[in-house]
Amino acid sequence: MKTYQYYKSVFEGLPMPFAFVDRDLLDQNISDILGRAGNKKIRIATKSIRCRAVMDYILKSSDVFQGLMCYNIYEAAWLASLGYDDLLVAYPYTQKQHIESIVPALREGKSIYLMADLPEHLDIIEKIGKENDVTIPVCLDIDMSTKFPGIHFGVFRSSIRSKEDAQGFFKKIKTCTHLRLGAIMGYEAQIAGLGDKVKGKGMMNGIISFLKGKSIKKLATLRTEVCQLALDLGFTPEVVNGGGTGSMESTRMEDHVTEITVGSGFFASHLFDNYKIFKHQPAAAYAIEIVRKPESGILTCAGGGYVASGTHGFDKVPHPYLPLGATFVANEMAGEVQTPIIYKGKEKLDLGDPVFLRHSKAGELCKHFKELHWVSEGKITDSSPTYRGEGKCFL
Ligand SMILES: Cc1ncc(COP(=O)(O)O)c(C=O)c1O
Repeated sequence: MKTYQYYKSVFEGLPMPFAFVDRDLLDQNISDILGRAGNKKIRIATKSIRCRAVMDYILKSSDVFQGLMCYNIYEAAWLASLGYDDLLVAYPYTQKQHIESIVPALREGKSIYLMADLPEHLDIIEKIGKENDVTIPVCLDIDMSTKFPGIHFGVFRSSIRSKEDAQGFFKKIKTCTHLRLGAIMGYEAQIAGLGDKVKGKGMMNGIISFLKGKSIKKLATLRTEVCQLALDLGFTPEVVNGGGTGSMESTRMEDHVTEITVGSGFFASHLFDNYKIFKHQPAAAYAIEIVRKPESGILTCAGGGYVASGTHGFDKVPHPYLPLGATFVANEMAGEVQTPIIYKGKEKLDLGDPVFLRHSKAGELCKHFKELHWVSEGKITDSSPTYRGEGKCFL
């Protein structure tokens, strides 16, 4: 683990707040993620990075990394215009302008897959394909959640919950002239995005592990059945995508799956500290400046309140990282303009010193900073614009 003094001396004199990526720890995460992939390719989830230089760095590190999973269709059009290819837009869009934005890239021969699960999605995409005389590749999104008595274990996304639902979808595709089935995706959020080693939640961890075990069997069966049905009906999708950072070990077991999506594991934001089967390194963080000392043992910093999306709770606020011994004041947490820190550690902290925090969700860090500083072997080696720094605000 890197120490407070290490980062303090690396960043000496740099105005705060700032965000950084530790290249040495990122390298470690890349190598561990490659080790977890089995024989599957890995698609990079851009939403969990939001900085092209980091995406490029990962893509270049191994040919196991192949293609990007985009979170927005304009983002895919933008990335295609910059030379990127093999872009899977992971969530459906329905407006004409949105779908038309990828037509120029498709005409150039780029592979961009649009997500669909409803007949209406297919109608909209087919209409725009026809109007523009292009064939648009679509990706069927299978719902991977599992219903237990009284529990919906998973997320609400796709309407395709069974082989029969998929059959209806495939039948409809057969009637379309300007789209084709290029990909199938099933994202098992309840395995990939739900920690089962959360501190202080022993009983809940046990329940989640149990439900995960049951759910993995069911979702693997459904994904297999849908893929087999597609093949039986004569479809030849080139991509079968599944999983996320938290599910690599189970997703890689499925024969039909060609690739696993990974995003959060590269920066390893603190939500991803809570898994039994893997541990990645905290490769991204941000620094805020101590500007006040309201009373002994409390240091108040400027800014800091970069809270993550989703259900609100302590798991969505940033967590103090370094120095060790720093915690939040329970009824303030990380604030919009001021963040008081209770400090019980060994460092001698003073005005102007940094406190380092980690975001809950990996890519959301970059929504708040224009650049990421790269750190390696005790030095800042480079600085790269985030999506925000490139003037991009997709969602
Ligand atoms: C469709 C889809 N696939 C994969 C992922 C996994 O991404 P990560 O590795 O960042 O958890 C997500 C995350 O929300 C997702 O929405």
